[in-house]
Amino acid sequence: MPAKAFFSVGSGAGTYFWMASTRVNTRNPAYRDIDALIDSERRFRLLVEGVIDYAIYMLDPNGIVTNWNAGAQRIKGYAPDEIIGQNFSIFYTPEEKAAGRPAEALATALREGKYEAEGWRVRKDGTRFFASVVIDPLYEEGVLAGFAKITRDITERETARNALLDSERNFRLLVSGVTDYALYMLDPEGLVSSWNAGAVRIKGYTPTEIIGQHFSRFYTNQDQAAGRPARALSIARETGRYDEEGWRVRKDGSFFWASVVIDPIRDQNGKLVGYAKITRDITERREAQMELARVQRQLAESQKMDALGQLTGGVAHDFNNLLMVVAGNIQTLKTIAAQDPKTARAAQAIEFATQRGAALTRQLLTFSRRQRVNPQPIEIAQRIDSIREVLSSGLGGNVRLTIDIPPGVWPITVDIGELEIALVNLVINSRDAMTDGGTVTISAQNITLGESESISAGEYVAIAVSDNGVGIPPDVIANVFDPFFTTKPVGKGTGLGLSQAHGFAHQAGGTVKITSTLGHGTTVTIYLPRTTGVVVDTMPSELSNAPARTGTVLLVEDNPEVASASANLLEQLGYLVRWVPNAEAALEEIERNGIDLVVSDIVMPGRMDGLGLARAIKEKRPELPILLATGYSEAAQNVRADFPILRKPYQMHELSRALAEILPGEA
Ligand SMILES: Nc1ncnc2c1ncn2[C@@H]1O[C@H](COP(=O)(O)OP(=O)(O)OP(=O)(O)O)[C@@H](O)[C@H]1O
Ligand SMILES: [Mg+2]
Repeated sequence: MPAKAFFSVGSGAGTYFWMASTRVNTRNPAYRDIDALIDSERRFRLLVEGVIDYAIYMLDPNGIVTNWNAGAQRIKGYAPDEIIGQNFSIFYTPEEKAAGRPAEALATALREGKYEAEGWRVRKDGTRFFASVVIDPLYEEGVLAGFAKITRDITERETARNALLDSERNFRLLVSGVTDYALYMLDPEGLVSSWNAGAVRIKGYTPTEIIGQHFSRFYTNQDQAAGRPARALSIARETGRYDEEGWRVRKDGSFFWASVVIDPIRDQNGKLVGYAKITRDITERREAQMELARVQRQLAESQKMDALGQLTGGVAHDFNNLLMVVAGNIQTLKTIAAQDPKTARAAQAIEFATQRGAALTRQLLTFSRRQRVNPQPIEIAQRIDSIREVLSSGLGGNVRLTIDIPPGVWPITVDIGELEIALVNLVINSRDAMTDGGTVTISAQNITLGESESISAGEYVAIAVSDNGVGIPPDVIANVFDPFFTTKPVGKGTGLGLSQAHGFAHQAGGTVKITSTLGHGTTVTIYLPRTTGVVVDTMPSELSNAPARTGTVLLVEDNPEVASASANLLEQLGYLVRWVPNAEAALEEIERNGIDLVVSDIVMPGRMDGLGLARAIKEKRPELPILLATGYSEAAQNVRADFPILRKPYQMHELSRALAEILPGEA
């Protein structure tokens, strides 16, 4: 029994050893044989003396060291003859000695049967080590024989433990101080068990409000109903990690877009003890990404529109000149054919086709923003009033037109003709979307817009055309402004209506937006900048009763065919025409006198274009009326204030109206 007790590991081992060697064994029948006893004692002594990991030694009742093993020598540095006979208080630090700790330790051992402590002790060389100390009192025949003392050097363990505590404290400080991430723990059921500063900041709850609550409250109602919180934990548990982005809810009910990671935490035995949860608010990043994507889409869209504009603009320009020729000669044909009904009908058919062609070309030019002829300040109510008839006559029986323009809508500066065409296009689209009847509403209102990719910040008039027709499917709506995009059967639509509205709005410094709900209707809104210009009432003169003109027109036009067509029209209006192919020749002709007005193309080869010519004439002969004509010109954009401009191809009534405006007393 004692041998067994001796070999058992732990602080108590020494006690049994000393008891065995000094007190109990003499009465143990197993040791009656004295040789065996001596032998056993010798082995115990050898063993104790040889142990080097423990200082094992005895004190007499007064604390004087009476023996000393190898471990004691190794740990404390004293050889047996240096220390035996000294009081064990020598191992204590001066402070502890002063405080009477050594005597206290012995008193405790006596009182309680055992003294156990950890603390700093001093080696022979003065260095300190962290000791684990056990002191047991030893009795012989009931009389105190001394004390057994076992000391272990646990400095390393203590240092490691302190390092661990330090690192845990640092880690806790770090985690609790991080404000950009919500770092917190859940217990295995999903109840919040810790909460850092980032969690407070991001989610709005203080630790006392949230610890002990279930983490599912951070999810939206739908997500909760769909069981996402539980699923997140089970995925984390089963796969070792859960990772997602999604909407989460703050304490105040607002949403944020969160990046969430959940890691399961297990103890050494693999048992789940909870979850670590890291949540980051990436709403801004997500918004920035979406904004970037949107800007890229917008850029691609505007590049596409630009490319299409270049293409269509170029084609339309050439086409225009051809139409000019056709249109000019039709008048001649009609005059000649007046007596022959069959030829007259043919001429009429050609004229219709030409007009249609001219209208299409005009839409194309507007789309490509190559056409800015005569913007002027207008009141939208007044303009719409003047075309109300035209608009409603195009609608047919079962579609009603409502106009809703409150007083006080700001004036805008636009080309009246283009505005009218845009409105007709929109109204006709609405009509086509309401085959079973319905209402088209044209409304206008003032609106102040912030900066956006399609428009600069400022004050705008929003002109909306809405219907309660079939609406536009979401996959189609992105294309409706593309030229030639149509869903209508061949012959019914060319797909240029919205393109024209788009080009018109942008060229006027605004933009156009379309919204639609399938089955419920569509609204197209044109935003046009408020103008500070003064509106003058310029209702067009009635064409039919325009008086016949007299006088000599100098026609400046480089293209002979266009020139001849134009001359034709002018002659039919009653003018004499003199034609020159360029600006230089025109100036010479004007020198010769006898010219009453000048009609000049803007784009011409040579050193001087139509605009230069007009300015030169204005200098020399300020009283001479000038009418500029163009189908397509960037240059035309700079002229609007200076000279009236006629859009090509023009028809007789348009030419007549334009001349009426520049000739004093004839309007
Ligand atoms: N108010 C609307 N309701 C439903 N769909 C519309 C509406 N406006 C336009 N759309 C759709 O957009 C397409 C393009 O319209 P757009 O006016 O550019 O061309 P179009 O009407 O087809 O032909 P065009 O106007 O040249 O005769 C139409 O074909 C139609 O599918
Ligand atoms: Mg249309």
